[in-house]
Formats: sequence, structure tokens, C-alpha cells
Amino acid sequence: MKFFIDTANLAQIKEANDLGILDGVTTNPSLMAKEGIKGEEAITNHYKTICEMVDGDISAEVLGTTFEGIIEEGKKLAAIHPNIIVKVPMIKEGVKAIKWFTDNGIKTNCTLIFSAGQAILAAKAGASYVSPFIGRIDDSGWDGVELIGQISRIYKLQGYKTEILAASIRTALHIVKCAEAGADVCTCPLEPILGLLKHPLTDIGLAKFLEDAKKM
Ligand code: G3P
Repeated sequence: MKFFIDTANLAQIKEANDLGILDGVTTNPSLMAKEGIKGEEAITNHYKTICEMVDGDISAEVLGTTFEGIIEEGKKLAAIHPNIIVKVPMIKEGVKAIKWFTDNGIKTNCTLIFSAGQAILAAKAGASYVSPFIGRIDDSGWDGVELIGQISRIYKLQGYKTEILAASIRTALHIVKCAEAGADVCTCPLEPILGLLKHPLTDIGLAKFLEDAKKM
């Protein structure tokens, strides 16, 4: 399973990249706004900086909701760097745009996926990635990881090449469960990634080794 970081924060991207396990970055309008990135030029420059920092797929989301608007924006985003993946919402116009991008050699990430039906449609349109939001599904009282498993079974059975990018991950356990359920990629903030490091017995064991090492 590939690891993407889900943030537009450059310090966090650097910290995850320095770990040596980072395969890419995902952003969305909420994450860009959180970093105070405003205006077309600043947005373009921010994506350029991220692309220079991380050697991997970098998702950049369109803001338009019409077919023409999505295409125009997606072409501009794709021109920023060869690693840009155009992130398109799961709406009717978005599906049409994903098909257009597929036919024109531009890779896409279909976002805001909350059902297997939406994942099938995105795969049919040729999306490179689908992003099921598992944390938000959990928030609504359902099981986000179960959806990852269902999409994984369907894609295998049908031979779809679209990669499952588990998004809206909140905990280290989510990452483990997504790996078990067949996600191709998990994208998450830095904290759940660092959470994978933690186990109290590791800390206790290391303290004992360091203490005993003084007697060596
Ligand atoms: O990748 C999607 C993600 O940014 C949404 O996460 O925590 O806002 O549901 P969250």
C-alpha cells in the first residue's frame, strides 16, 4: 500500500517525506484554505513547491462544477507539473470530465466517494484513483473500512485498474484496517502516520536495552 500525506502544510509534508515512506500528496480546497493559500498564482506556486518536494503523485482539486469549468481548470493544473493528478468531485459533470481527461492522457482522482456505485462509475470513466472518505462514513454511523473492502472486491472481480485511495483517515488503526481491506493507497494527516510508530512495549523494551547497555 502506498502512503500519501493529506495536507497542504509544507512542514508536515517535509517531515513525512524525510521518513522516506512518502509516495505522494493529496490536497483539497479546505486544506489549501487552512494554509492561507489564496488566488490562482499562490495556488499554482504552492502546487509547484509540493511537486518539487515530493517525487510522487500530487492531487490538486478543481473548484469548478461544470464540465467546461472542470476541463479548463484541470488542463491548467495538469500543466503545472507531470506529477499532478487532477482531483474531480463525484458529480455528473465530474464523471464526464474524468472520461475526457482519461481520453486526453490526464490522470484523475475522483473524490467525495461514499458508495460502491460511485466507485464503479468513476472506474468506468477511467479515473486513476477513487477516494472513499472513510472517516466521514464512520461519522455518519456506517463503516468506512467496509466500503474499502467492497470496492476492492468489485474492482478485482471486474478487472478495473483504478486504484483505491482511502481518504479521510483519522487514526493509525484506520491505516491498518485499510491495508487489510485492500486499499492501494492511504492518504492521511501526519499524526496517524506517526501513530503507526507507537507501542508501549517498544518504549519499555528500548528503555531496558539502553539501561542494560550501560553494563556491557
Ligand atoms: O482526503 C480527504 C480528507 O481531506 C477529508 O478528511 O478528516 O476532513 O474527513 P476529513
